[in-house]
Amino acid sequence: MSFWTTRPTPILGLAPMDGVTDAAFRWMIATYGSPDVIFTEFTSVIDVCRGPEFLLSTFRFDERERPIVAQIYGKDPALFYQAAHVVGALGFDGLDINMGCPSKNVAASGSGAGLIRTPDLAHELMRAARQGLRDWAGGQSLEAVGLKSSRADLIRRMNVARGGEPDPVRRELPLSVKTRLGYDSVIIESWAEHLLEEHPAALTVHGRTLEQMYRGQADWEAISRVARLTRGTSTRLLGNGDVMTVSDAFEKIERWGVDGVLIGRGTLGHPGWFDHRAASRPAEAQVPVEAGNRPGPRAVTPMVAKIDHQFRLMMDHARRFEEVFDSKVFPRMRKHLAWYCKGFPLAAKLRAEMMRVCNAADVERLIAAYWAGYVEPEAQSHSPSHAHAHAHAQAEAEATSSIQDNPHIASLTCGSF
Ligand SMILES: Cc1cc2nc3c(=O)[nH]c(=O)nc-3n(C[C@H](O)[C@H](O)[C@H](O)COP(=O)(O)O)c2cc1C
Repeated sequence: MSFWTTRPTPILGLAPMDGVTDAAFRWMIATYGSPDVIFTEFTSVIDVCRGPEFLLSTFRFDERERPIVAQIYGKDPALFYQAAHVVGALGFDGLDINMGCPSKNVAASGSGAGLIRTPDLAHELMRAARQGLRDWAGGQSLEAVGLKSSRADLIRRMNVARGGEPDPVRRELPLSVKTRLGYDSVIIESWAEHLLEEHPAALTVHGRTLEQMYRGQADWEAISRVARLTRGTSTRLLGNGDVMTVSDAFEKIERWGVDGVLIGRGTLGHPGWFDHRAASRPAEAQVPVEAGNRPGPRAVTPMVAKIDHQFRLMMDHARRFEEVFDSKVFPRMRKHLAWYCKGFPLAAKLRAEMMRVCNAADVERLIAAYWAGYVEPEAQSHSPSHAHAHAHAQAEAEATSSIQDNPHIASLTCGSF
């Protein structure tokens, strides 16, 4: 039995996000909370089977992230068959096929959400992937399905680096699919019926069509129509789209009858999102503040505690990123740093500075400089200084602005996804 059946519902999981849910961010999510499932970034089946070694780094993970599902995309059944072997050999807990990516590069070539227009091919891919998972579980070697022995060696090295056995225990992994409501119109009922013929262990539906990209609100009423189709079947239905808070997640699960939700953008800058038990406590109460260990103000006001909490997360994340990845790619960490800087005085200025850092030491220096110039907002509001009044207003505006208003997120969502 797979984790999809043994996990109690409702399921709250981390959605796959290309360029975001990398090994360092997933480690943060698993360290600061307990999601029921975590998805990797999507990875092309070509890269999984034949790409250069560094492209398989999207599939690095830590044991604490379990259950962890590898997401793949493409349109060639033979490659899905091979990729399923790789995913099995890497010790994942599940394999997910992306049928929802709206990016031109992906969908226009017939992969991702492009598959909504070719349901027969979608079936074929699911069958090929499932057969691959089955044959791998049955003992078939990677070399026997045409993968190079250097790829098999790389996989063993990745497993050992994670602290595991070179060859994980063979078991048939569950297959799942993540998709959208349709291509240019909502056809989710007929589309979901097609997908359900293959009995996926889980189906995630993002409540928008490809054409909508990220515009408007996710249509949860349409998602609930799929919930009616999956009720009484072995498929878990996960709704997805615009869930920002834990209470919102539970409210949507209850109202729309889904088995769970995947959360994407709501987790940016909030690795503690899945700490459900502590979610009702204010963020600043979650990490004890020891003034003696922190440069800057001695008085631990609620604002100081909040900023200190964010800075600790930033440092932890930046150091983990350095442990996992080559220092040359540290710029990929900058957007995360910017997401942590929200809702406190002069956060916008700090965000801009974070966009230039090259390593964790740079981040530490910026944090120290921030504390050195820190003035408590209450003190500022009594000051006649224009700059101080501005800082106060800015902190308030940042704390209340919605996630969609955040330019860093807006630019991301207008990009590949
Ligand atoms: C930056 C970014 C990258 C994404 N990458 C993927 C991906 O690799 N695979 C996928 O299935 N969905 C991807 N998505 C879509 C999300 O998984 C999710 O469906 C979408 O963001 C809606 O959920 P949310 O409102 O909780 O963010 C991505 C979204 C964003 C914002």
